[in-house]
Amino acid sequence: MKKAIWIKAPIMNTLPYFKKKFLVDKELVKAYLDISAMGFFEAKINGKQVTDSLFNPGWTSYHNRVQVRRFDILPLLKREDNEITVLLGEGWGGSRRMGWDSPTRPYFYPSLIFEITLMYADTSIETISSDTHVDVYSSRIVASSIYDGEIQDETLRVKYIAKAEGSFITTNYVEYEGEDIVEGERIYPLKIFTDNGGNRVVDFGQNFTGYVEVNFKGKRGEKISFTPGEVLDKNGVFYNKNYRSAKSFYSFTFTGRADTFKPKFSFMGGRYIKLIDYPDDIEKENFVGIMVHSNIERTGYFECGNTLINQLYHNIIYGQLSNYLDIPTDCPQRDERLGWLGDAEVFARAAEINFNVLKFFKKWLKDMALEQKDSGAIEGVVPKVPGLDVLVSCGWADACTIIPYEMYLAYNDTEVLVDTFPMMKKWISYILSRGPNKYLWLGDNHFGDWLALDALYGESVGATDLDYLASAFFAYSTSIVIKVGEVLKEDVSYYKDLYKNIKKEFIKKFFVDGLPIGEKAVIGKTKKKTCYTETALVIALYFNLYEDNKDKLLNALIELIDEADGRMTTGFLGTPFILHALSDNGRSDYAYKLLLQEKNPSWLFSVLHGATTMWEHYDGINDEGDFWSEAMNSFNHYAYGAVYDWIFSNTLGIKRLSAGYKKIAIDPIPCKELGFAKGSIKTKYGTIYSSWYYQGDALVFEIEIPKGIEAVFIDGSGNERKIVPGKNRFYREEEII
Ligand code: BGC
Repeated sequence: MKKAIWIKAPIMNTLPYFKKKFLVDKELVKAYLDISAMGFFEAKINGKQVTDSLFNPGWTSYHNRVQVRRFDILPLLKREDNEITVLLGEGWGGSRRMGWDSPTRPYFYPSLIFEITLMYADTSIETISSDTHVDVYSSRIVASSIYDGEIQDETLRVKYIAKAEGSFITTNYVEYEGEDIVEGERIYPLKIFTDNGGNRVVDFGQNFTGYVEVNFKGKRGEKISFTPGEVLDKNGVFYNKNYRSAKSFYSFTFTGRADTFKPKFSFMGGRYIKLIDYPDDIEKENFVGIMVHSNIERTGYFECGNTLINQLYHNIIYGQLSNYLDIPTDCPQRDERLGWLGDAEVFARAAEINFNVLKFFKKWLKDMALEQKDSGAIEGVVPKVPGLDVLVSCGWADACTIIPYEMYLAYNDTEVLVDTFPMMKKWISYILSRGPNKYLWLGDNHFGDWLALDALYGESVGATDLDYLASAFFAYSTSIVIKVGEVLKEDVSYYKDLYKNIKKEFIKKFFVDGLPIGEKAVIGKTKKKTCYTETALVIALYFNLYEDNKDKLLNALIELIDEADGRMTTGFLGTPFILHALSDNGRSDYAYKLLLQEKNPSWLFSVLHGATTMWEHYDGINDEGDFWSEAMNSFNHYAYGAVYDWIFSNTLGIKRLSAGYKKIAIDPIPCKELGFAKGSIKTKYGTIYSSWYYQGDALVFEIEIPKGIEAVFIDGSGNERKIVPGKNRFYREEEII
């Protein structure tokens, strides 16, 4: 964009429309539009949309870079008079209040930049650019923002306001790198009903992220307005106090004709909507929920004979779709919806099985690298919201090593490693700079084992010692730097020494007689931080931090699980690994015990309480029907959905032996309570399919692999049998878990 300048509208009562007319008086061979915004834009040429994708130009680290989209507009142009119109909303870049607590954070003023390039048959080139000659009109959107919803009034007259003003934006332009944001599944309501508080409520039967479309012929000037909620309270009354300051209010004014309304620049999360203003004769058929998410390709499927586990899997998929909206967010409903690193990191492995998320993550990881400070520190949220300072925490910032390495393993893409290796090394130097012990990370504050249930009931930070966690993740990230360096053929001898020393110091500092120091954690009751928790033991086992002492660690973990009545007490940092730590060390019986546990805390507790997406807390609603809290209780947080990676690699037994699934082992762990299991993953070589079912006392395994993959089946006694391309069938008679 050579001639274009950033423009904005004067202060207005509605969202602004920008309009520029131009003439095409010769034969065209090529025509394209380059366009970007601080905010969301919807561009039309001669009244026709230039793209079906939504929320353009996506969310990046705006103070570092903004994406510019290029659209082919040749088919939309005509000889003679043409016009470009652009509707501009606050979006992410022009929002004044992203993040909690603050009604007004300084972001950019909603601004727009565009340039049309016309290439004629006579080889001449003409450009039409955004400048201060662009006309600004009012629109029929009175207000629109991500958190607060949207107000549309179709009876309003669109009026000319003024010429556009120049806007002062300095940032870099980059080509569009993300996945398009699109409309997905349409969800038709189950019912419309009056709740026990007298509210008229529409139930879509599914918690989701997106918006609601209303199709209705109302009286001119009459309104429909509503607000979403995820759950009903224990008295059967609509509830959305957990949205905190996000108003999520939607209002449409009817024209008197048959209208179709949906928001343009806002999204919500919820399963229900409470009608506020509404025509008496409105029915459930007049509403459709529309899911909105990044256009990631579905690659994984799973089904088994246990309906609760199937519902859990469903919740994981819908949780992912709900929170993969250009960046990986924590939740879609309250005043956050931010790119929390910890949530993305713990779920990444499940995510890459369910969907192809390579492109999605590559873009976000670039923003992470840009947000990294000179010291190497990475705050807990990317892209950063100006004015919102977030803790630099272990387990969150380690997303900078864990996620790129996961992407490499899943897709055999080395580019993501090349892009992120400098960030990884810089992160390690940040930890090294924290002192006082060279090989441990001590004394800093962290989010810890977030939401673990072994601290005092009601606390957000679990009982696991923060220094223990920080030092363990220091070791883990260093081990990833070594592996990545080896893939990239870099000299990693320094990191190998460092890793050895961290492990040595770690054992010395946090263990006595092979057991972690501190009091044993007790579910809901641990007052003081301790190293003796389920999470601490899981992490030592899974990160291989104390290899010659695994039996003792495992026994201690089993003991803690028994003492917690067969339940896990792990939070964000322990949960993704607990089943692996058990089954990798020969205790798949305990892994299944936890997976199939129905009492709180467990994965199935929320399923049994009607969850249709993953909950932020295992007990977002407890046995008494009470909420965990008002302040922080999302019913659409994907993090605990991390468990699917265990189901995939153990129940189905699909184990990746080399990056991209070129070499695999199929080593399923069947379980009577599941009855049968079947599932698949689409890799770049084709689809891998694994299933098992019982035939009398025998187990039948049906496995299918494409050409180009080298695979072995591990039979009950640990022997390898070759799997050939196409269909394979194996039998096993053995003890069943
Ligand atoms: C978010 C989390 C996030 C956390 C940091 C919360 O408010 O919703 O999911 O990781 O803060 O601890």
